[in-house]
Amino acid sequence: MTLEETLVPGRMRRLRHGIVDSTNERAFAALQEGTAQHGDVHLAVGQTSGRGRQGRTWWSEPGAGLYCSVVLLPGAPYSPPALTMAGGMGALDTVRALGAVRARLKWPNDVVVHDAKLAGILAETRGLDPKRPAYVLGIGINVSQTSFPAELLAERDATSLRLRGSQASVQDTEDLLLQYLSLRVDQLQHDPLRLETDFLVGLALRGEEVRASTSQEEVEGRLLGLSLEGGLHLATLYGERRLPLEWVRSLG
Ligand code: BTN
Repeated sequence: MTLEETLVPGRMRRLRHGIVDSTNERAFAALQEGTAQHGDVHLAVGQTSGRGRQGRTWWSEPGAGLYCSVVLLPGAPYSPPALTMAGGMGALDTVRALGAVRARLKWPNDVVVHDAKLAGILAETRGLDPKRPAYVLGIGINVSQTSFPAELLAERDATSLRLRGSQASVQDTEDLLLQYLSLRVDQLQHDPLRLETDFLVGLALRGEEVRASTSQEEVEGRLLGLSLEGGLHLATLYGERRLPLEWVRSLG
């Protein structure tokens, strides 16, 4: 990683929007226009089309959550799970530091407390050119919501920092997230082992009996480890299995 690739929180441009469609869309628009710089952070008060994985909607009540997207222009491509891991760890560090001490990661991109979603990560790239890779890392954190719409809760439980007893503001959350995120993105290059180990601990599943689903099969076994190169390492009844991380759709 060159010095220019390092994310320094104080030097990241914070591009503030009011109510937008989606901060990921604003970041991609800037990339398309050629105005984007490595480390740009698009922040919105609210989103009308906040997006989650698999076409889901990210509920984006104005002023109540952190809605941000970071532009990353590394010298060499990241693997997609690597960026999701760095984003997930950055969000997990943040919500724990703000008081949600029981938060954990849920594969692949959720931060939950007792299965209620507190934060979500959406790492995207469009038409990746390996010579000039460009990524948008979108992160949503529920901060001061005190309730959620019934249609959202019908899909899955949700929570916020406020509902977990934290008085943190959206601004506190933003400042802390950018600090932790820069550390975690740095680890992608300099200390992937640390990122992998922390991610595994963050999942709170090490040594547990788990079921990993890929698009092809479901594999049950004890979770032994996880690494970007070696994938998910499971002890099954039929011997040890390794599943590439990008194959794993769900884990629990
Ligand atoms: C998920 O849980 O499936 C991912 C949710 C990601 C939501 C964030 S909010 C900021 C950024 N802009 C979006 O449209 N999505 C991400």
